[in-house]
Amino acid sequence: MKNRMRGALLATLVFSVGSHAAFGADRPWMNTSLSADERADLVIREMTLDEKVQMVHGTGWGVLKPGSEIPAGSNFGAGYVAGIDRLGIPGINLADSAVGVRMAAYQSRYATLLPSVLGAASSWNTELAELYGQVIGRELRDQGTNMSIGGGVNLTREPRNGRNFEYAGEDPILAGTFVGHLIKGVQSQQVMGDMKHYAFNDQETGRNINNVIIDERTMRETDLLAFQIAHAIGQPAGVMCSYNKVNGDYACENDYLLNQVLKGDFGFKGFVLSDWGGTHSTVKAVNNGLDMEQADFDYLGAPLKAAVEKGEVSTARLNDMVHRILRSMFAHGVIDHPPQRKVVNPFEGRDDAQRIAEESIVLLKNENVLPLSKSAHRIALIGSHADVGVLSGGGSAQVDAPGGNAINPSQGASPWGKPVYFPSSPLKQIHAAAPNAKVEFNAGDDAAAAANFARDADVAIVFVNQYMTEGWDSPTLSLPDQQDALVSAVAAANPNTIVVLETGGPVSMPWVDQVKGVLAAWYPGIGGAEALTNILFGDVNPSGRLPITFAKTENDLPSPKIQGLKPRSQSEEFDPKKKPEPFDVRYPEGLRYGYRWYESTGKQPLFAFGHGLSYTKFEYSQLQANGRDVKFTLKNAGDRAGAETAQIYVTLPASADEPYKRLVAWQKVELQPGESKQVSVTLDPAYLSVFNTKKHGWELKPGKYQVHVGGSAAKSALDGTTQIKH
Ligand code: BGC
Repeated sequence: MKNRMRGALLATLVFSVGSHAAFGADRPWMNTSLSADERADLVIREMTLDEKVQMVHGTGWGVLKPGSEIPAGSNFGAGYVAGIDRLGIPGINLADSAVGVRMAAYQSRYATLLPSVLGAASSWNTELAELYGQVIGRELRDQGTNMSIGGGVNLTREPRNGRNFEYAGEDPILAGTFVGHLIKGVQSQQVMGDMKHYAFNDQETGRNINNVIIDERTMRETDLLAFQIAHAIGQPAGVMCSYNKVNGDYACENDYLLNQVLKGDFGFKGFVLSDWGGTHSTVKAVNNGLDMEQADFDYLGAPLKAAVEKGEVSTARLNDMVHRILRSMFAHGVIDHPPQRKVVNPFEGRDDAQRIAEESIVLLKNENVLPLSKSAHRIALIGSHADVGVLSGGGSAQVDAPGGNAINPSQGASPWGKPVYFPSSPLKQIHAAAPNAKVEFNAGDDAAAAANFARDADVAIVFVNQYMTEGWDSPTLSLPDQQDALVSAVAAANPNTIVVLETGGPVSMPWVDQVKGVLAAWYPGIGGAEALTNILFGDVNPSGRLPITFAKTENDLPSPKIQGLKPRSQSEEFDPKKKPEPFDVRYPEGLRYGYRWYESTGKQPLFAFGHGLSYTKFEYSQLQANGRDVKFTLKNAGDRAGAETAQIYVTLPASADEPYKRLVAWQKVELQPGESKQVSVTLDPAYLSVFNTKKHGWELKPGKYQVHVGGSAAKSALDGTTQIKH
């Protein structure tokens, strides 16, 4: 009774404190029954010109540049916007968090390393995408940060792009849907989310100086479609414009991209922030749609104030910029429910990371070698520090490893450009799964010695790696450091060789016919070794499917050489007078990007988009297509439970002038052995449409559509046609 009374008293107190703040005449914007837009406008009415200008730029490079000042209120993330105390508006702490929260080590904090976004997108599972975002949002909040700057959704045009691991693959519908749900997950934790890098920052080579020349239809049906879908699903608070130019204008001062498409057609209500140092002007940038300069204030600080005073930027536009920022803060709860710091729960994060990894890993090849038997006598593990850990991706997506880099333990923040391994040891996990087997490790730096080491093992597992990072593309699709020779040597010595890839994206595999099994583990995150072990031994049936095509060689790519990639000598690289020359990028594939390229040229990929094996077999039958309704039966014809990602592609009628298939829907279906289910999907007319550049709008072409259903873009199990009306 006493307790209940105390509870009631407390509630009254909390209510009266809350209600005072909520309805106080001095801060009417704290009235939560008003809309985010109304609340933002009430604040703006009270703001001075200086306060408005203060809200639309960062405070400098902080932790990113050693020796820079770290302003009070900054939470040691990549960016900080100072708040306005007198109005009760908190600062905005922006933290890189592509695959987990970056820079945790600066303040002895912990952050979960998730599998790469490309890996997670291999799950084709939107619930998992939300979980991915929730982990990030939760840990940001627990660290006291209120905005994520992850959400990469650039399409893979360049499979050697150093940042492909931060993105969700080559298909706009899959990537946009996946990242949209990821953003939803982040924002469900009452932190602001973001999507980036808008747009066409599809390679790192020359990212600050290249100019992507691209026609409107291709723009709208490829990368911009991915952004459009991610925006519609995720409603991110921020959109980060990219470094590069598009059709002559920098992305951060590009009227077409920002005003016409993003804010106009998509109806984006949040704010556009520049990539770090990606602002190039004041009046042009602001009038063409940029709302916030990061990380500095060279253009949107004092020069913006002067431009407003001179009338070159209208007060209405400045108010619009501030409105977009404030309404996002209200809409996503960062003013009403500011994050309270507490200890991040590493165990919860690790379990979530493992769960995501288990659906991310793709079984690419299996000639009766997997799953492994737990009664094997000797299992030989080779390469990639598989004794201690798993690789992570670098750049601004780098998460700090607990205890420091597992291969070279050193506490503190991770260095830029150096491979960092996380303490999730395949050796330990495999040994735990098969305690009676001799599980041994060889570093793999001498191919002949590794072959000898592998010779008498029941199975040899070669771990190969490709470290990728922002600011750099891999010049080729080949694995670095003679790892191809290592695999060939081991495969020649042991007929039961399996390769586990820890790569940022697709790689070539000249040895593919020599080995019995290949698994793409991507960068698998802090639960990576556990997830991989569960898959190797069949405790988890693999269900990942490629969100990206693996080409056989560079020669099969639309651009066999990366555009603008000029090998420069070291002295040129470090000579400040030898600035690289700006260049144009013209992606020759146009609308035939990704898997469409292979269909339209007849080239055979090494592994097709959508491909991925299971330890069971699936059978498709009884396709019925009626208008936009597609039905078929899916059966698990094997003896293990498993999940199939049934993919639906269509080829549009000839009038669409796009004679190759596109993914329009998928369903991930779990089936017990022998079980059948009818899969029923209504196709979204938006995904059947083409962009009409004369009408500047989407158009659904009436006519006969071919329907292809199956387990990859290369091979359909069922084909039919359907008549679609307007
Ligand atoms: C990257 C962004 C990142 C920013 C802040 C830039 O170099 O391109 O993705 O968010 O740095 O770290």
